[in-house]
Amino acid sequence: MVTSNEKPSRIKVRDKFFRLYLSKEKIDEIVSGIARSIDRDYSGKTPLCLGILNGAFIFASDLMRKLQIPCEISFVKYSSYHGMESGEKVNRLIGLNETIRGRDVIIVEDIVDTGLTMTKLLYDLKQYQPASVSIACFCFKKEAFRENFKIDYCGLEIPKLFVVGYGLDYDGAGRNFPDIYQLDETDQ
Ligand code: IMP
Repeated sequence: MVTSNEKPSRIKVRDKFFRLYLSKEKIDEIVSGIARSIDRDYSGKTPLCLGILNGAFIFASDLMRKLQIPCEISFVKYSSYHGMESGEKVNRLIGLNETIRGRDVIIVEDIVDTGLTMTKLLYDLKQYQPASVSIACFCFKKEAFRENFKIDYCGLEIPKLFVVGYGLDYDGAGRNFPDIYQLDETDQ
């Protein structure tokens, strides 16, 4: 049993071990920094934050609670990941609708890996003619990135690691850890 002040340095999620990568305290600082930048850039506007499910649900709720400007939230759902591999095909599972038209949209994503999911969303969003679109992502795997869009608010660049926690999962599990853990390949 782990009490509230302790954090395990190593966890097991399904069949894999993971070690601590980023503490929840550091995560909180990063999210606060992103919120400050958005408050500054969107002063006088009421943006629509658009979280990408499932992974971004925690980051989106933390970010939303730190924003001081008026804002709204909605979610879309895409799927591409299978286990620890980013898939080639991205499927939209829950959609966009007309409420996007004319809005200043901030896409809120937990992690950009190859960038395929975001590219698909950006393409889909265009059809609804938002007034503007920007991207806030918590983690960015720059070395894995294969697409061509700008990330306006990037919390943290990380190497090509597989991470879980803070909404990120391994095969559906591990999203509930408040800290972020990286795959520990030393002793699987
Ligand atoms: P992309 O389309 O390759 O950019 O992948 C984006 C999606 O893959 C994210 O929204 C996550 O759901 C998932 N993903 C990418 N890297 C990781 C990771 O290290 N851990 C958990 N999920 C990840």
